[in-house]
Amino acid sequence: MINKRRVAIVGAGAVGASTAYALALNGACGEIILYDIVSDIAIGKAIDIAQSTNYSPRGTVVRSIVNPEEMVNCDIVVVTAGVPRKKDMTRADLLNINANIVKEVSLNIKKYSPNAIIICVSNPLDVMNFVIQKITGWDRSRIIGMSGALDGSRMAYQIYKKLGFGASQIKAMVIGEHGQNMIPYPEISDVAGVPLTKLLSKNDIDNIIQKTKDGGAEIVKYLKTSAFYAPARAIAVMVEAILNDEDKIISSSVILDGEYGYRGVSISIPIVLGRSGVKKIIELDLDEPTREKFDLAVESIKNGISILENSDFFNK
Ligand code: NAI
Ligand code: 2OP
Repeated sequence: MINKRRVAIVGAGAVGASTAYALALNGACGEIILYDIVSDIAIGKAIDIAQSTNYSPRGTVVRSIVNPEEMVNCDIVVVTAGVPRKKDMTRADLLNINANIVKEVSLNIKKYSPNAIIICVSNPLDVMNFVIQKITGWDRSRIIGMSGALDGSRMAYQIYKKLGFGASQIKAMVIGEHGQNMIPYPEISDVAGVPLTKLLSKNDIDNIIQKTKDGGAEIVKYLKTSAFYAPARAIAVMVEAILNDEDKIISSSVILDGEYGYRGVSISIPIVLGRSGVKKIIELDLDEPTREKFDLAVESIKNGISILENSDFFNK
């Protein structure tokens, strides 16, 4: 199935374009296709990124398309299309708008790249990942939400800020909802194998947990828009794990089918990511406080799904 290493990115905004650039910089794929409902954005950014590839270690073709029909034979499609929340919008408003965008995108992927693996990025992430699986009807192993990869790198950043050493040796695990019910998991995070709990006080760890949860909001505070460089790098790591069949453990949002005691909900948990997508779901033995947080996260995501179900979204 994977031969051309063709990756399409739907939504050429801040995250989509930064992802294309991250992938083009290291020559991870043969071809990157950018598509945006606003064609000029995709065209302009594809030209700019294509002109950067002269200095990449391996050639990458970067091009834009103006019709979704041209999104053919993609190995991976990254979905970053959506609208940001505006002042007068409720959570339900945003959910409905983005769900409709993601639905349209999913139908196009299903039609034009039926063998693709989809990486969902659009927010609210866990609900949108669920929408993609429902709309495509594909095996859940091919629909993966990017969340834990970014949240883990934010936690690693906070750990380094506290420690001041071990920067490249930090392994930080975050599971749960990509949102307020995110679960940074210090008990299974470490620095070069040394458990975090041996290196930092409970106070410091609590502070890291809170700052990790606030990681997205902190950037919005300064930039007045959400993050894109770290998300793009996290997406690129997932794309590379799939294209290179790396079988890497990455916390990602996937649809549960009995694991962790739940079904019909997408939530971030550690998975093994490789050429066919989700190769294995790792079931952690959650301690009691973490289990309680996990249950709350599931409830919150299920509430989002219910908003869509109550508006008959999946049957329209
Ligand atoms: P952006 O507004 O810069 O880009 C979104 C792009 O989607 C726009 O260029 C827009 O024209 C396009 N678009 C809208 N409807 C479309 C459609 N039907 N087909 C194709 N393109 C369409 O937003 P940004 O900052 O790039 O964020 C994109 C999404 O990713 C947002 O939902 C954001 O909340 C989410 N996000 C998720 C993260 C995660 O960890 N999962 C991290 C960062 C952002
Ligand atoms: C973030 O975590 C907005 O989901 C986005 O930065």
